[in-house]
Amino acid sequence: MSAGDAETRAIVALAERLAREAGALQRARYETELEIGTKSRPIDLVTEVDRACEALIVEGLRRARPGDDILAEEGGVHAAQGAAWRWIVDPLDGTVNFAHGYPCFCVSIGVERDGRRHVGVVYDPLRDELFEAVAGGGARRNGRPIRVSEAATVQRALLATGFAYDVHDSADDNLERLARAVKQAGGVRRDGSAAIDLCYVACGRFDGYWELKLHPWDVAAGLLIVEEAGGRTSDLRGGPAPADGREILASNGRLHEALLALLG
Ligand code: IPD
Ligand code: CA
Ligand code: CA
Repeated sequence: MSAGDAETRAIVALAERLAREAGALQRARYETELEIGTKSRPIDLVTEVDRACEALIVEGLRRARPGDDILAEEGGVHAAQGAAWRWIVDPLDGTVNFAHGYPCFCVSIGVERDGRRHVGVVYDPLRDELFEAVAGGGARRNGRPIRVSEAATVQRALLATGFAYDVHDSADDNLERLARAVKQAGGVRRDGSAAIDLCYVACGRFDGYWELKLHPWDVAAGLLIVEEAGGRTSDLRGGPAPADGREILASNGRLHEALLALLG
């Protein structure tokens, strides 16, 4: 447990400051004209705001913590020899939403210490909600402790999922699982920001969330926030949730076995 050590506190403060600064940029550019490009597929978008947010965060980290490793989605990789700390940054999670003016996107910053999830910060600039967790220290929204829901049956559960950018051309498309969930759950949402989906499990708005083919930056903060809010995370067979995000189930814990049976 190191939630209280001075270096951890400094790291949380830095992550919060950079997440709020990048979030302010997103708020300022929301529903303005944007330069929009594509990446792996025609539906995999990137905007000038994704890049500007990443530059802001990565430059801030390089200045404040030059010895740390950084992995950031839009290419901001810095490998420091033998670094204990690694920052994993999604500068704008929910780019498709942002590009369409759909109000669901965020900044996600996860920090590993010696290869373990240690700090997670997710900032939703439109709702001004900052989710944050430190390993062993619980999870908070805007400074107040949060907990997962109490839902005990799939029939009463509100679930969330998402689809990878290869959904048009891959057979491994998550649609069979979606169909099963729609037929059995209380409701299913696809909101388009994996980091927000995880935070919503953490604070009880969703009872469970699963997705395949995510990336480290989508889940680095959110998985810790769920775990510290009393939830459970895993892959779809009940093994540890992979840090690379390739297969993620997060729940309030009570529902986990039932969701593994439904989705695994
Ligand atoms: C995407 C979002 C979306 C998820 C995709 C992610 P991006 O991240 O988290 O909800 O379904 O798989 O790639 O591209 O907006 O950072
Ligand atoms: Ca993302
Ligand atoms: Ca992104």
